[in-house]
Amino acid sequence: MLRKTVYFFGFTFFGLTFWMCKSLPDLNQYVSTPIPIDNPMDSAKIALGKALFFDTRLSKDNTINCASCHKPGLAFTDGQKTSTGINGQKTDRNSPSLLNAGFLPTVMFDAHLKTLELQVLVPLQEPSEMGHNMRQLTPLLRKDSVYQKAAQDIYGRDFDAWVLTRSIAAFERSLISMSSPYDHFMKGDATALSKKEQTGLKLFSEKLYCTECHVPPYFTNYEARNNGLYLDYGSDKGRFRINQDSSEIGHFKVPSLRNIEHTAPYMHDGNFGSLEEVIDHYARGGAGHRLQDPIIKPFTLSKKEREALISFLNALTDLSFAERL
Ligand code: HEC
Ligand code: HEC
Repeated sequence: MLRKTVYFFGFTFFGLTFWMCKSLPDLNQYVSTPIPIDNPMDSAKIALGKALFFDTRLSKDNTINCASCHKPGLAFTDGQKTSTGINGQKTDRNSPSLLNAGFLPTVMFDAHLKTLELQVLVPLQEPSEMGHNMRQLTPLLRKDSVYQKAAQDIYGRDFDAWVLTRSIAAFERSLISMSSPYDHFMKGDATALSKKEQTGLKLFSEKLYCTECHVPPYFTNYEARNNGLYLDYGSDKGRFRINQDSSEIGHFKVPSLRNIEHTAPYMHDGNFGSLEEVIDHYARGGAGHRLQDPIIKPFTLSKKEREALISFLNALTDLSFAERL
């Protein structure tokens, strides 16, 4: 029901979003984020979005902000198996990193929401997360003279849902993390990765099949796939819940592996506490669900190789965004 409301709300409010590439020279010289033409970025908008992201008034009882579940120091995750919303309620899923979310054509583990603007409505109105109501929230925030003035200056209108969703989305698009040791290595600095990390890179991209789904440079192919996490997915069947299409049972968005060092626990439900456990899962060849992707097959790694693979994954860390906040 909520999801349907969100769809309706989203399509009527935002219409179709057209993606277009514009460079953001101030934020990063190496990459450019796709910016929707109807929500151009500027620093005032990013600053307003940032203020909203950290504002607990966005939750019904003023206790939770976006950063409660997306903490900058944890690469915008929260370190919990599944997150905690208002009144101590648990969410169904693990909080994903928001770094580089601006590059994703669809977000959420079901890979079904096409814009960050639209996504803002979900946690805000979800009873187990922020539990608020946009119609009650915006008149409250309009009374904040700083927000009201910013809305007028940036958008030429009163503070409303349009201003709120677009500003937060613009802030999220500024969260770029593409300057890890791996990136420096790929740009030609042969010393950026140790020999061990280079061995891990080779394993990851040549010996094993990881890059089939975790495709550089974002380490995702943007698809929802079944990685054989369970034999029986129980109550959370992934993307199946969107279209009730039984061929999509157990399909979850392939997550980026950037900053994986800081985003434990792993998978949509935080089932694995460490990268060791994740590698065990793949080395076993998955749990063998009938829709498990056929590419996932058992493999053996020596102790040294396993360590090399993990050290490579840890070389995908770039927390310089924290300094920009
Ligand atoms: C109570 C915890 C909680 C709060 C508060 C919260 N989130 Fe999340 N967020 C999550 C969880 C859990 C998911 C995964 C949901 C899913 O895929 O079904 C998520 C997913 C997302 C995603 C999708 C990322 C991706 O890679 O697919 C974005 C973007 C996001 N949240 C932004 C926000 C913003 C903006 C706010 C504040 C308005 C916010 N979140 C508040 C827990 C939270
Ligand atoms: C068929 C596609 C596919 C292949 C191949 C694949 N993965 Fe994944 N990977 C996924 C999906 C889908 C998820 C998320 C599953 C979930 O949330 O339940 C995932 C999750 C992960 C995670 C956890 C990420 C997080 O933030 O929670 C890690 C780490 C990971 N994979 C590493 C690897 C490694 C290492 C390999 C190679 C041995 C590999 N993957 C091969 C699809 C794949």
